[in-house]
Amino acid sequence: MVAKKGLASAPVRGRRVLVRVDFNVPQDPNGQVADDRRIVEALPTLNHLRAAGARTILLTHLGRPGGHRDPRYSLRPVVHRLSAVLGQPVPLADDVVGIHALEQTARLANGQFLMLENLRFHPGEEANDPAFASELAHLGEFFVEDAFGAVHRAHASTVGVPKRLPSCAGLLVEREVRELSRLIERPEPPYVALVGGAKVADKLPFLESFCGRANSLLIGGALAFPFLSARGLSLGATRVDPGLESAVDAFLRRAEAEGTEVLLPTDLVVERPGVVGAETHPVGGIPADAIAQDIGPETRDAFSARLDASRTVFWNGPLGRAEDSRFRDGTREVLSRLGSARGYHVAAGGDSARIAQDLGVTGSFQFISTGGGAALEFVQGLELPGLAVLPDA
Ligand code: ADP
Ligand code: 3PG
Ligand code: MG
Repeated sequence: MVAKKGLASAPVRGRRVLVRVDFNVPQDPNGQVADDRRIVEALPTLNHLRAAGARTILLTHLGRPGGHRDPRYSLRPVVHRLSAVLGQPVPLADDVVGIHALEQTARLANGQFLMLENLRFHPGEEANDPAFASELAHLGEFFVEDAFGAVHRAHASTVGVPKRLPSCAGLLVEREVRELSRLIERPEPPYVALVGGAKVADKLPFLESFCGRANSLLIGGALAFPFLSARGLSLGATRVDPGLESAVDAFLRRAEAEGTEVLLPTDLVVERPGVVGAETHPVGGIPADAIAQDIGPETRDAFSARLDASRTVFWNGPLGRAEDSRFRDGTREVLSRLGSARGYHVAAGGDSARIAQDLGVTGSFQFISTGGGAALEFVQGLELPGLAVLPDA
């Protein structure tokens, strides 16, 4: 792990400090913040800056408004929650750059905060446009990167600004890097990766990164379907992404060659038209009209046995369609049993962190990343542009 320059000794008193946070939070149907974990996890950095007398200017994106102003993606509900969490009102500038933003940042007193509007209201953000990055950088005198969830993006706020200002990593970024590094730098064996979710094509490179690194890879969720199907097992009426047979075969050969055991479900909980409730079937005997939705009890036991014997665990992705109460037992049981296993347990993923919360199993983990894509890329050992650009300690 290359340590990055940290916040502790950064000269921030009386200075305008631009802080990139990732307040891309889930919203309820009324637009209110549905889960404030990313806001709460930024508090150590924000409290430090307040106590140190910085004039803090917060930058974040919310959703994907596509480079133009869209009121559905305004940060209004976010500053509302942030003000409550901080115990101090945080005004919202009505734009990101421009004369009004400049005036508001100039009026900040020591210990105060200002949030700029959604960065992605401007096309220059995602394009990392030099003129937009310069305009942003001009608003501050120092930059703090605390948006761990966005460091895999090479955008104006994550790369353009730190190229133009003296910069450091915030306390959340430091903590994420320290914790997640334990998975890629000599994790204590047996190292077991438990991976579920959907989007197989997206997750194949991620799965490949465990070959030769993890002792066991346990695959559940819809992610397991192409693997079962490549073994010639019928999944009834379940939708299986087509055209992945050769990629899946190549993956399994590589895992074997590199000594990583791959465990797949041996039984599945299915839904059938006209049948109330769920049924369990072995993977060799899925009825033709059945749709697979969760791992079955035999698979849960097999996965839990591996997890019990592990010393390091990484989890991403539900093992079934956990949004539906009929199909969350697999994920809940395996993760709650993980709570009594010894060792270092880490969870990551946008949907996964929320599901762990809904299932009441966050206590099974020593660390739950605030990153979605960023955490998955970090765990693969990829270089993240928003970290690479920061000066080393
Ligand atoms: P993360 O965002 O944490 O990386 P993913 O987006 O990969 O996680 O996975 C979450 C999604 O996977 C959920 O919407 C869940 O419903 C879906 N999923 C998991 N297992 C199944 C399944 N057996 N059938 C259909 N969808 C599934
Ligand atoms: C996330 O939620 O994973 C981050 O905020 C990045 O969002 P993005 O995928 O829209 O770039
Ligand atoms: Mg997801």
